[in-house]
Amino acid sequence: MTLALILPPKMAPRWRERFLQIDPAIDVRMWDDLGDPAAIRYALCWRAPAGAAASLPNLRVIFSMGAGVDHILSDPTTPDVPIVRIVDADLTNRMSEYVVMHVLMHHRRQRLYDRQQRERLWHGHEQWPASKMRVGIMGIGELGSDAASKVAMLGFQVAGWSRSPKTLEGIECFHGEAGLNTFLARTDILVVLLPLTPDTKGILNRALFAKLAKDGPLGGGVVINAGRGGLQVATDIVSALDAGDLVAASLDVFETEPLDPASPLWQREDIIITPHNAADSDPDALCAYVLDQIRAHQRGSALRNVVDPQRGY
Ligand code: NDP
Ligand code: OXD
Repeated sequence: MTLALILPPKMAPRWRERFLQIDPAIDVRMWDDLGDPAAIRYALCWRAPAGAAASLPNLRVIFSMGAGVDHILSDPTTPDVPIVRIVDADLTNRMSEYVVMHVLMHHRRQRLYDRQQRERLWHGHEQWPASKMRVGIMGIGELGSDAASKVAMLGFQVAGWSRSPKTLEGIECFHGEAGLNTFLARTDILVVLLPLTPDTKGILNRALFAKLAKDGPLGGGVVINAGRGGLQVATDIVSALDAGDLVAASLDVFETEPLDPASPLWQREDIIITPHNAADSDPDALCAYVLDQIRAHQRGSALRNVVDPQRGY
């Protein structure tokens, strides 16, 4: 079995070591030292150069190094082989940690108290019960459904929005275009865990922010985006904050990463920025998952967590 690592050059050597620690017998090749491309059956990709997978004539399966596969499907030359994404309990937990933390930071107005601390100001503000705050989660798949149940456990009113109808205990579920406006109108804190697809690109725009509830405790919407940067129109976030449709944002992902040091987003007190690390994958667990799937595939068993290229996720 020959596995190619088509990863950013700084990452690849460490990943090769990890695979070999688990199974020294596997043939793991780095993209810059591939040998005969015809020997490669499996590829693990993260932001691979365009055309990379297409240059492997006997490729059987592409693994995404992440839960998202937009970095693979955006390359029109990607061959028609199964694409497997990461679904992992530890990754899911880490994303729920991020979501719970950011929902609480906005609900408890932690940024305001950070500022007051810098100013040595002792002053308490009104505090609301979680039951008064409506959290809406766009994307209630593997990550969003777990985050929804954990946020609900804290007493928040939680709703979710998906493409197809869903039933989740204790979560009010909306779906499709028809359910979007009602979902937004009952949402104070909007959490975004959608994949980036042609349907979702730019969905977080001025028109959408204007539809969020304004009668909640914060007096305007909060957006927390840990899905993909391409979901948001950054200039619309800024103008919605300036106009009061939004009162704050937490952004983990950006259209161009790393975020340009010159970006005006950095300076805003009302935006919390993290460097696309809402949920990292445990490297050893990820290697074991990929190897397990490769062995299953070699035995003729079905692959798990294969994406639908037509849907885009
Ligand atoms: P899933 O595929 O399990 O869930 C995706 C959800 O989005 C589903 O509920 C799906 O609806 C919904 N959805 C997709 N398209 C639409 C649409 N057009 N309209 C409405 N709902 C839609 O993905 P995961 O939960 O595993 O991951 C979500 C995303 O999170 C990833 O694609 C990735 O971009 C991002 N991510 C970010 C990380 C970070 O560190 N910032 C880490 C890991 C992932 P339905 O249920 O009907 O299919
Ligand atoms: C992912 C990510 O898709 O880390 O897993 O963004």
